[in-house]
Amino acid sequence: MTKVTALFLLSLTYVIAQEDPLSCVDRCNIPYNPSDLCHCNTQCTIYSNCCADYDELCTGLTSSCINRCSENFDRRNECHCDDLCKDKGNCCPDFDDFCPNVYEQLTELANDLYYNDINAATQYDVTYDYQTHIPDHNVIEDVSPDNLFKFFNESLFDIPSYKYMRDIFDNYIRYTGTPEDVTQEELDEVKIFLDEVMESYVMKKAHEYLVEKGLVDPDYYVAFRQDLETIWFEMYTRSSGPIDSSGFEHVFIGEIKNNAVSGFHGWLMFYLEEKAGLVNYHGFTSMKEPDTLGLQFHWDGYNKKISSIFTNRSPEFELAIFTVCFKQFPNQLCKFDMAGFPVSIQTWKQNDKYIGSAYVVA
Ligand SMILES: *[C@@H]1O[C@H](CO)[C@@H](O)[C@H](O)[C@H]1NC(C)=O
Repeated sequence: MTKVTALFLLSLTYVIAQEDPLSCVDRCNIPYNPSDLCHCNTQCTIYSNCCADYDELCTGLTSSCINRCSENFDRRNECHCDDLCKDKGNCCPDFDDFCPNVYEQLTELANDLYYNDINAATQYDVTYDYQTHIPDHNVIEDVSPDNLFKFFNESLFDIPSYKYMRDIFDNYIRYTGTPEDVTQEELDEVKIFLDEVMESYVMKKAHEYLVEKGLVDPDYYVAFRQDLETIWFEMYTRSSGPIDSSGFEHVFIGEIKNNAVSGFHGWLMFYLEEKAGLVNYHGFTSMKEPDTLGLQFHWDGYNKKISSIFTNRSPEFELAIFTVCFKQFPNQLCKFDMAGFPVSIQTWKQNDKYIGSAYVVA
């Protein structure tokens, strides 16, 4: 065997060992991802979908917090790593080693982003008419005759990130299963919007935080920007059919899937569509500080039983905080305090690398 062949075989073995989708090597206790072929977390024994080497490699770790920090509480686990385990006294013994104050670290970041979100709308820019509370969102009924937005100062669209985000809103076909075509003009609009977001304090801080955690590339303007463009704007299929969706479209605009509105978590889109007479606000399901609204509405022929949105936050703030949660806690709740109130953000991963959804829990 020549040296080159030997090297080739060695690296091939390495690649196979690294990427075997049927093994738990390096995967013990990683969060559940539906696209994995088999699973390696504590739940797999219950659902009978563990990888073959799960017992051998991972069972010793069910009493450990490795890869389990901030998980959702599950009473079937022998010990816990969720944010409340300290209070309840049921943390795994190594909790302090592996979950050092994730909650506090995220809280510090979230407050920094929140209080330095200089482009956030104020109570003078926008006022709301919340009207009637909807106790059961499964009942679809318009119990609020007036618009949600009572006043909206359109000078907000003089702020570049608002203006450039609005420019992107008409780039998509909202029906999943219908292929999107992407024009050069649309790509340019995304580029201009991202250029603007990249210059914001909030995105720079989000990047700093993620670099410290080893979750993104330290190179801000090239590698991280490309990462943002991929997770938010690269088109993918949501319907196992044509390329019909992107994270941005789902979260900030909205889609129609199975005869219902899907996504649609952006307050600016809501305002514009309500003004155009295409959105009909039904009422609120919950209202939480800071700036969090759960609501039901009708959009151009279809209902959204319940959605949740951040109101008044700038586009760059939402992109930054959702990106942080998606990178650190994909497919999980990302929990912290912001402006003195507990906040939970849920993100979902789609097709292995894209943002499927991201929203504040109302
Ligand atoms: C809208 O905002 C602009 C810029 O802050 C301000 O000059 C203007 O007075 C506001 N208009 C109203 C009606 O509040």
